[in-house]
Parts: sequence; C-alpha cells; structure tokens
Amino acid sequence: MNDRYLRACRREPVDRPPLWIMRQAGRYLPEYRELRSRVDFLTLCRTPELAVEASLQPVRRFGLDAAIVFSDILLPVQAMGCDLSFDPGPRLAAPLRTRAQIEALATPPMAEAVPFVGEAVRLLRRELEGKLPVIGFCGAPFTLAAYLVEGRGGDGFGAVKSLMFREPETLELLLGTLADAMADYLALQIRSGAQAVQLFDSWAGILAPEDYRRFALLPARRVIRGLGRAETPIAYFAPAAGHALEDALETGADVLGVCWRTPLDEARRRVAGRVAIQGNLDPHALFAPPAEVRRRADAVLDAAGDAPGHIMNLGHGILPDTPIASVEALIEAMAARERSLA
Ligand code: CP3
Repeated sequence: MNDRYLRACRREPVDRPPLWIMRQAGRYLPEYRELRSRVDFLTLCRTPELAVEASLQPVRRFGLDAAIVFSDILLPVQAMGCDLSFDPGPRLAAPLRTRAQIEALATPPMAEAVPFVGEAVRLLRRELEGKLPVIGFCGAPFTLAAYLVEGRGGDGFGAVKSLMFREPETLELLLGTLADAMADYLALQIRSGAQAVQLFDSWAGILAPEDYRRFALLPARRVIRGLGRAETPIAYFAPAAGHALEDALETGADVLGVCWRTPLDEARRRVAGRVAIQGNLDPHALFAPPAEVRRRADAVLDAAGDAPGHIMNLGHGILPDTPIASVEALIEAMAARERSLA
C-alpha cells in the first residue's frame, strides 16, 4: 500500500512528500477527452463505472500518490432542488436570490439523493484496495452558496456579496442548510470507503477577514464538526485566502491547502505544526519548459522543508491546456527528491 498521502495528512514521516494534483482527472488528459466525447459531463458523474474510469486515468498514467473520486462540488446541490447544467462551468436555471427560495431547498438524505457518488467511491476503493488511498470531497458552504446565489462562476461574485450585506441572516440560513447537507454528503463518502476528504472553499478568498470568519470559516467548521470523524483526515482548501490561514486552523481540518500566493515556509511557520499543509505550485508554472517546471517544483519542496506533513500539489486546479510533459516533469522532480532523501 502506498500510504505516503495518509501518513503526510497525519504528519508522520515519509520517504518523500506525496503528490496528487487538484483536478487531476480532466480535460488536459487525452484519454479524458476521449471519454467525454462519448458521454456528457453529468452522465459521466452519475455513472459509477465511468466515474471510476475517469478517476483512474491520471493515476495509471502518472503513478500519483492518491486518487480522488470523480464528481463535482455542485452535484449534491442539484439533489437539493437546484436545476443545474455545465457549460463547462456550473450554470443554475434559477439562481437563489430570496429567502423563500432558500427555505424551499430540499434536504434529502444524501445516500438517497446521490447514491451514484457513494457507489463510485465504493468501486474506486475496491479497485485501489491495498494500493492507493481514495479521497472524497465536497464544496465548502460559502463556495457552494456563491454559485447558488450567482447562478454561475466568474465575475467577482457581486450577487452573493450584496446578499451578504443586505440580508446576512438569509445568507446564514443558506450556509447552515448547506453545511448540514455537506456533513451528510461527506459521511456518505467515508462510509463508502473514502480514506480522506477535502472541502474546497474556492471563493472564500473574496471575503474581507471579518466576513471570512462569519460566512466561510464558521460554516466550514460546522461541516467538520457535523462529520465528527476524528480518524479520517480532513483537508480544507481556500485559495487566495492565505491572509486567513490562522482562522482556517479553527475549521478543525487536519490539512490546510495553500495557494501559490503564500510561500510554504511562511505557511509552515504560521500553522506551527498544528496541521499538515498541501500545495502550492502555481498551475500556470506548468506552461514553462520541463526544466523550469522541475526547478519550480524543487523550490516548493525546499520551501516546505523536511518536517513531516507536506502534501505536494498545485496551488489550484490543473488547467485544461496543460502539457502532459509538464506533469511528467513534476513526477520526475518527485522521483529525484525520493532518491536524494534515500
Ligand atoms: O480530478 C478531479 O479532481 C475531478 C473531480 C472534480 C471536478 N470538479 C470535475 C470537473 C473536482 C474535485 C471538482 C471541484 C470543483 N468544481 C471546484 C473546486 C476546485 C476549484 O477548482 O476551485 C469548483 C469551484 C467546481 C465548479 C466547476 N465545475 C467549475 C468551475 C467547472 C468548470 C471547470 C473548467 O475547467 O472549465 C466545473 C466542471 C468540471 N468539474 C469539469 C471537471 C472535469 C470540466 C467538465 C467537462 O469535462 O466538460
């Protein structure tokens, strides 16, 4: 069993830091594009055998240190009654703008609402048993709310921020509903075999510190507390929120993801050994020639230092037009590190 990833989550010594890549299954892979040419994205997510195939593609090609279930952060909210499509990012037919719409959200048990996610985790775990750990995930409440209120990704999230200042209690109601649903959703993934889980708080970085605490940190903590699973490592990742790293410690996560804006030596100092850290190569660095990719990867590893508890990753998701040769250069940098530490 390659348990580097789980050991690093628990801050135990490893032969070298584990590597996985946020959004490692996706359009930069020719085999993913081939799969997607036969089936649309939502069908892919809802068909466990195909979702498992997508999860395994990057693992087979590169020999990464963990697999992540193939799904999307918005799938469970679709089960809560939001009419959703992907183009390629999420689009909502009716953005949530009123308290009545938020009160009308359904809260079905996730095992009944999205059984295909539990099944995908179960099949993936069976495929990788004794070989690699399986990561489950969800969106953190603020980030999900940002999509639900806005109706789509992108333009500064003015609608969710306006709602936050006009009707903070309405936003809090939505965040509380989402937090309880996500605790149930992560519990389903853990019961189905996920050995670690990650909360993606992709948009929390748009908030001022005071608002971050109330509208991002507290709801994320509610998910983690609701889950109540001390033995399963939980990672929390809020890109562009490095200023709030000390606050993020209060989520109760075991691992904090760090984007490229915050140097890892600084992140390590600030978390002071209380959590593992994950990151943080700029995804755009993968557009550099292979030698420069290796140099940048080495710089990240050097900044993280030798103390246990570093998970190598990008500082955000890998981009669709990333050259395969760059990912190979990253893999080589990890192999070189392993040799130099041996
Ligand atoms: O390997 C993996 O990590 C795959 C599973 C995964 C997907 N989305 C598949 C996906 C995960 C973990 C996500 C998380 C996700 N989804 C986040 C958090 C991470 C982040 O990047 O901040 C967010 C914000 C979303 C919402 C979302 N879904 C966006 C913005 C998009 C468009 C992305 C793009 O690259 O254009 C999606 C669609 C999506 N989710 C795709 C994939 C592979 C592309 C869909 C396609 O094949 O057409």
